[in-house]
Amino acid sequence: MEEEDEGYKRNERIALVTILVMASVAVASLFVTFIYYCYITNKVSRRLNNRKKGSEHEEKSSSSCNIQVAAENGLQEFTFKQLHSATGGFGKSNVIGHGGFGSVYRGVLQDGRKVAVKLMDQAGKQGEEEFQVEVELLSRLHSPYLLALIGYCSDSNHKLLVYEFMANGGLQEHLYPISGSNSGCLKLDWETRLGIALEAAKGLEYLHEHVTPPVIHRDFKSSNILLDKSFHAKVSDFGLAKLGSDKAGGHVSTRVLGTQGYVAPEYALTGHLTTKSDVYSYGVVLLELLTGRVPVDMKRGPAESVLVSWALPRLTDRDKVVEIMDPALEGQYSIKEVIQVAAIAAMCVQSEADYRPLMADVVQSLVPLVKHHRPTSRGGSSSSFHPNSSPKA
Ligand SMILES: Nc1ncnc2c1ncn2[C@@H]1O[C@H](COP(=O)(O)OP(=O)(O)OP(=O)(O)O)[C@@H](O)[C@H]1O
Ligand SMILES: [Mg+2]
Repeated sequence: MEEEDEGYKRNERIALVTILVMASVAVASLFVTFIYYCYITNKVSRRLNNRKKGSEHEEKSSSSCNIQVAAENGLQEFTFKQLHSATGGFGKSNVIGHGGFGSVYRGVLQDGRKVAVKLMDQAGKQGEEEFQVEVELLSRLHSPYLLALIGYCSDSNHKLLVYEFMANGGLQEHLYPISGSNSGCLKLDWETRLGIALEAAKGLEYLHEHVTPPVIHRDFKSSNILLDKSFHAKVSDFGLAKLGSDKAGGHVSTRVLGTQGYVAPEYALTGHLTTKSDVYSYGVVLLELLTGRVPVDMKRGPAESVLVSWALPRLTDRDKVVEIMDPALEGQYSIKEVIQVAAIAAMCVQSEADYRPLMADVVQSLVPLVKHHRPTSRGGSSSSFHPNSSPKA
């Protein structure tokens, strides 16, 4: 009986131990399962995080790639928001001018650089085309005598161009100030006019002779010559420029554009465009510098309304040339220099395009006159070339 009891107790102990062992195995496996669960969730969330970071990085590197592409052209791509805040929300007080493209605003970039922002009018398809042409051209052309394009903004609703800011604005504002806004503006002296003539000539010379194929400006005029704080000049606005023909003597046939009073007669009549059309427009600007007159003004009466027709017969006459000079100069110029500049102007505006000089000839003729007065701080006609534009030998 005692043996039976002991056997029963042994079985009971074995069962207890078995239950204990099984319970601890169950707890241990639960614990292991829990640890494994934690490990898996941790791993999954880490993987998700990495994937997110990866896509952020990809986004960043793709946008930095865009910036890099733009930077290769020397251009910065702006968002509309950036330019909106740079110009004080395109506020009226920041408007510095209006042109064929749209309004021009003064602005300050986040890095403190002063800029001029051109906001394209929404109307018209032609403007969009001009926008693309200008961005493409200016990203390839670099010269101290051409206005630098810093960047642009282009989205489905907005097209803007961001230029370096030229503190003294357009040349025309200083030659015939519009009553009211610029009434306090001091007129340019003779030396400054000579310097501007030379620098603008160097800008055109670069476009015509240092870029292959040559670039025809097509809208060269005094409002497209901008002046910095020291009255050094840069040529602006290639919105109307077209690449010239590669062939010698070739021309680009296109619709007649440009601004009244500056357009060469053969271009106005036939639409045939060559670099010599720009030389004519340059001659008109020289006449503006000499006379301080607007190229076309009906208020001057029929004999004087068109500047070229009125000035041309007087340009090569030593006695009469003084009659056409800007009264604002108050005779403060060298007659000898005036005669030389008048002779250059006369050659540029002659009706036979082939007889007009090359811009390189004009530069050569003006250099000694300007050297005489002020050594130009930019020195020579050296221009930097972008690899895309192959300079002529
Ligand atoms: N980069 C700049 N810095 C300072 N002022 C500028 C700049 N660009 C333009 N302006 C001012 O804005 C005015 C208008 O320029 P805009 O080029 O739009 O018109 P435009 O030269 O009169 O005509 P077009 O559209 O045919 O070139 C200029 O006359 C000049 O006073
Ligand atoms: Mg302009």
